[in-house]
Amino acid sequence: MRFQREPLRPASLVFNEQGVPASTLYGDVYHARAGALDQARHVFIGGNGLPGRWSGRDTFTVCETGFGLGHNFLALWQAWRDAPGRPRHLHFLSFEAHPFSAGDLAAALAGHAGELRGMADALVRAWPPLLPGLHRLEFEEGRLTLTLAFGSVEYLARQAEAGVDAFFLDGFAPRLNPAMWSRELFGQLVRIANAGATAASWCCAGQVRRDLAAAGFLVSRAPGFGGKRQMSRAVLRPGLGRMAAPPRRDAVIVVGGGLAGAGMAHSLALRGHAVTVLDPAFARGPAGGHEGHRCAAMTPALSRDDNPMSRLSRAGILLAGLRWKGLPGVHEACGSLVRVAAAEAGPWQSALEALRLPPEWASWCPAAETAARTGWPLSTGGVWLGAGALLRPARLVAALLAHDGITVCARRVGRLNERGGIWRALSDEGAVLAEAPRAVIAAAADAPALLAAAMPDAGFPKLARMQRMGGQVAHFRAAALGRGTRSIVAGAGYWLPQDEGVHVGGSTYVFDPGLAAGRPSDAGFREVALKVAGLLETGPEALMSARAAPDDGWAGWRAAVSDHLPVIGPADARRSLWLACAYGSRGLSWMTLAGEIMAATLGAEPLPLERELLKAVRPR
Ligand SMILES: Cc1cc2nc3c(=O)[nH]c(=O)nc-3n(C[C@H](O)[C@H](O)[C@H](O)COP(=O)(O)OP(=O)(O)OC[C@H]3O[C@@H](n4cnc5c(N)ncnc54)[C@H](O)[C@@H]3O)c2cc1C
Ligand SMILES: C[S@@+](CC[C@H](N)C(=O)[O-])C[C@H]1O[C@@H](n2cnc3c(N)ncnc32)[C@H](O)[C@@H]1O
Repeated sequence: MRFQREPLRPASLVFNEQGVPASTLYGDVYHARAGALDQARHVFIGGNGLPGRWSGRDTFTVCETGFGLGHNFLALWQAWRDAPGRPRHLHFLSFEAHPFSAGDLAAALAGHAGELRGMADALVRAWPPLLPGLHRLEFEEGRLTLTLAFGSVEYLARQAEAGVDAFFLDGFAPRLNPAMWSRELFGQLVRIANAGATAASWCCAGQVRRDLAAAGFLVSRAPGFGGKRQMSRAVLRPGLGRMAAPPRRDAVIVVGGGLAGAGMAHSLALRGHAVTVLDPAFARGPAGGHEGHRCAAMTPALSRDDNPMSRLSRAGILLAGLRWKGLPGVHEACGSLVRVAAAEAGPWQSALEALRLPPEWASWCPAAETAARTGWPLSTGGVWLGAGALLRPARLVAALLAHDGITVCARRVGRLNERGGIWRALSDEGAVLAEAPRAVIAAAADAPALLAAAMPDAGFPKLARMQRMGGQVAHFRAAALGRGTRSIVAGAGYWLPQDEGVHVGGSTYVFDPGLAAGRPSDAGFREVALKVAGLLETGPEALMSARAAPDDGWAGWRAAVSDHLPVIGPADARRSLWLACAYGSRGLSWMTLAGEIMAATLGAEPLPLERELLKAVRPR
C-alpha cells in the first residue's frame, strides 16, 4: 500500500499590480480581474446549470479542483442560501495543494460586505490547521459541509470517495499548472461522478476539452467571463457515473455503549437515524462501563514516516474536535509532551523537519524548554503535540448518548440475526431486544463472537485473533503532591494535569481475564505510581502517599488486533452490518472517526477519509 508522505507547501498572499491575488509558485492569478465572485457566478455556478439543477434534490455535491481563497465556495454558499428550492444538504469537496494560512485567508476575504462578510468570517473561523489530508468543516448547522483535501490533486483525487453532481475546474492556466488538467485527473473525477454530472471551467484550451471528452464528458463552449470569449461546459456521457444514492436515514441498533458505541450513535443520530444502544453496563449509570473514568488522554499518534496510524489519528482527532465542540466540560486542550529517549532525539528532530507539520501540531521540545511547556522540568526533551487534550470519558459518553435520537437499553445482546433485511438483537434467552435495518457491533472483545454468530459463513481472520488486555488508571491528590503539570506528559505511561484536585496517571496492562471492570486494585495503583515516577523523574514515595481514596480510579479493557489499527467498516456487501472495534489504547481518537465514516457513507456525503486509509481499517 502506498501512503502519502509529501509535506504541504502553503501559499502566501501576494497581489499583482492590478490588485488581483497571484501565485508566486505558478505565476498566475487566482481569478479574473473583473471579479472573483462574478466569475464564480457566471462560470462555475451558471456553467453547471445551478441553481436550477439542484432543485428538488435532498442532497447535492460539488467538487472543485483548487480551493484557493474560497471565492467559488462562498459564491455557491450564497446561491444556495438564496435559492427557494435548494437541496437540504449541500456538500463541497475541494482539492488544494497550497492552502493559505487562516491569517492570509482572512486578509484576502476582508473586502466582503453584508451577507458574504458573515460567511467569509465563518470560513476563516473554521479553517483547519495546515495538515495534509482531508478536513471536514460544517456550516449552517451541518447542512452545508466543506471537505478540504489538502495535498496534491494527483494523489488525492485517487483517494476521494464521493458522489459528485457538479465539478468546478479551477486550476491555474494549463500551461503553468498541467497537473490540474490532466486526463488522469479527469478519469478520477469521472470515477466519483454521479450519472448526469456536469462540469464547467473558465478554461477552453483545446487539449483540456479533448481530455475531458476522452475521460467521458460531452464538452461544449459557452460565452466566457471577464474578457474571455469562451468557457467550457460539459456533461457526463449517458451510461457513465454512479446512480446518485439517496441518503439513508434508517434506524440502527448499536451493540455496546462504550467509546465506540457512543461515537457511532452520536454521529448517526446527528444525521437523523433513530439509534438504539444496548449495553448491560448502563445498569451502572449513563456512562455505562466508563462510569468513574473521570479523565483520559487524547494524544495524537505521530510516527517518523507519517504512517497510517498517525494519519488516522490526525483525522480522528480533528473530527472529534468538530463533534465535541458543543459539549460542555468534556475536553480541555492542554497539549501533550511525548518523551523521547536521548538516543532517539536526533532522528526525531530530523523527522519533524522533514514532515514540516505546523509547529502548533507537532514540534521538538528540548529538555531546557520542558518546564515552560509542561510546568515540570525534565532531563530529556520530546515531541510537543499541541492537539493533546484531557478528556473526561464518563461525561463524554453520557453527553453523546443524551442526544434525542438515541435510546439506551441496559441489556446484553446474546446474538444478532438478520431476516428479510431486518437485524434483530436477541437476549441470551432469545427475546427480541431491538429491530432495525442496520446494526453496528461496537462490543470491543465480544465483537468477533457476535460477528461470527451473525454471519457464520464470513471469514474475518484478523478480527478473529483479537486480543483483550485489562488495565487501570490511578488517581493522585494534587494538594498532597504540591506541584503538578499543566500538560499531558506521556511515554512509558502517562500523567494528566490536575482536574478538580486530582491527577490521573496511567496505566497497567494485565492479561487477567478475571479482572473486574471498574475496580482498580492496590497492586495496580503501585504499578502506576512507579511508572509515573519514572516518567516524571521523581521519587515514587510522594506519589504513593498522594493516593486518592483506595477505591478511587478506574479499570477497564482494551481490545486490539495485530496491526493496532481500529477495525471500522461494513461487514456485508449491503452495508447493513458494521463493525467499530479494536480501539486498543486509543479509543478517544477512533470513536468519532468511525461514526463519521458510517454516517457519511449512509448519508451519501463525501467521505472524511482517504480510500487507502478506509481500506487499512476495514474488517478483515
Ligand atoms: C486503564 C485504561 C486506560 C485507558 N486510557 C485511555 C486514554 O487515556 N485514552 C484513550 O484514548 N484510550 C484509553 N484507553 C482505551 C479505551 O478505554 C478503549 O480504547 C475504549 O474503551 C474502546 O472502546 P470500545 O467501545 O471498543 O470498548 P469499551 O469502551 O470497553 O466498551 C465496550 C462495551 O461493549 C459492551 N458489550 C460487550 N459485549 C456486549 C454484548 N454482547 N451486548 C451488549 N454490550 C456489550 C461492554 O459492556 C462495554 O460497555 C484506556 C483503557 C484502559 C483499560
Ligand atoms: C485559480 S486558483 C483557484 C481559485 C479558487 N477556486 C477560488 O475560488 O479562490 C487554483 C488553485 O489550484 C491550486 N493547485 C495548483 N496545483 C495544484 C495541485 N497539483 N493539486 C492541488 N491544488 C493545486 C492552487 O494552489 C490554487 O489555489
